[in-house]
Amino acid sequence: MPLQVADGVFWVGAIDWNVRSFHGYTYTTPRGTTYNAYLVLGDEPALVDTVAPGFEDEMMGRIRELIDPARIRYLIANHGEVDHSSAIPHVLAQAPEARLICSRKGTESLGAYYPQLWDFQVVDTGDHLDLGGKTLSFIEAPMLHWPDSMFTYVQEERLLLPNDAFGQHLATSQRFADQVESWQLWDEAARYYANILAPFSRMVLRKLDEVARSGLEIATIAPGHGVIWRENPGQILEAYRRWATGEAKERVVIAYETMWGSTEKVARALAEGVADEGVEALLRGLPMADRTEVVKELLEAKGLLVGSSTHNQRILLNVAAFMEDLKGLRFTNKIAAAFGSHGWAGGAVAQLEEGLREAGLDVMTSDLAVRWAPSAEDLERAREFGRRFAREVRQALAEPVAAHHGTEA
Ligand code: FEO
Repeated sequence: MPLQVADGVFWVGAIDWNVRSFHGYTYTTPRGTTYNAYLVLGDEPALVDTVAPGFEDEMMGRIRELIDPARIRYLIANHGEVDHSSAIPHVLAQAPEARLICSRKGTESLGAYYPQLWDFQVVDTGDHLDLGGKTLSFIEAPMLHWPDSMFTYVQEERLLLPNDAFGQHLATSQRFADQVESWQLWDEAARYYANILAPFSRMVLRKLDEVARSGLEIATIAPGHGVIWRENPGQILEAYRRWATGEAKERVVIAYETMWGSTEKVARALAEGVADEGVEALLRGLPMADRTEVVKELLEAKGLLVGSSTHNQRILLNVAAFMEDLKGLRFTNKIAAAFGSHGWAGGAVAQLEEGLREAGLDVMTSDLAVRWAPSAEDLERAREFGRRFAREVRQALAEPVAAHHGTEA
């Protein structure tokens, strides 16, 4: 069934209950997702975004319950990524008079994915489209999530359709944020920000400021994934501001991988030391702990301790993957340190410290490269380092947050 989001605006997307990974396998989606498309019924109907491959019929069925798809006059592609655009050729085949509207950058991504399309109508920030009874306006939003991203705003309904921004990977039969469990909603919203938008935090802040300055009234935010924010949509804007500025808690994530248990013993001793100071310690052994989840937990943590055994003079593979996550996500305003163990030859701790610096974290040098099995003295040294690290975390939280240095478009 299509579902009314606002007067004359309907959700006509699809629910992907079973998808368990996104962006290849970089993002696990234990609760599935939705691909949200919206039909705006002005005198000339407009469809905003489409769905992922395999969900075309589900979307077209919902549209058909409302109108003959041949009546669609405009197809707005807010973003070229395939999960939102793959049904565009399908829609245009059934709506031959529809004009395809996208950002200037959108012509590049859409033109490459769908070379059969060529007749784009480009819009810039501030452009309007009168549908007759409904007016759309457009706001370019580069890097939220890609350079081609833009928001569509339905003026009469004060409804923002921001595509990837403010979404969650959450499959549910409910369509509105106030209908789902709050803990689940915020867990998925944070997981989504941490794993998708964190590298672009500077752009997020700029866009939030721009929207605030423009005086745009927003009654509802209907993103491209997950549920719709209709009650107090400001709460997700505020959360994005907190996450983008790197606001954090007295929390230390301890992520590690161990061969024969020595690195894990050091990790546990570190956790004890952190907890001794009254700071929360989250011990996360990889790969038993899911990397996407660890990244989410790190979003609001001030400290990160990463450990690995040395194997063939390198760090272990699951920690290596986690380090690649960190380098791409570019969290800032966090303190980090490395630890590990080795047998005949070491190297993991130095490599981890180098990787943490490359990821943009403030690194505290440790002396926690343990040979063979940790002795009682080694473990006490780790506990003491954990205490010292926790105190650093607390002290850093008392200082003003430094400017975030996310990626420019
Ligand atoms: Fe949901 Fe950037 O695609």
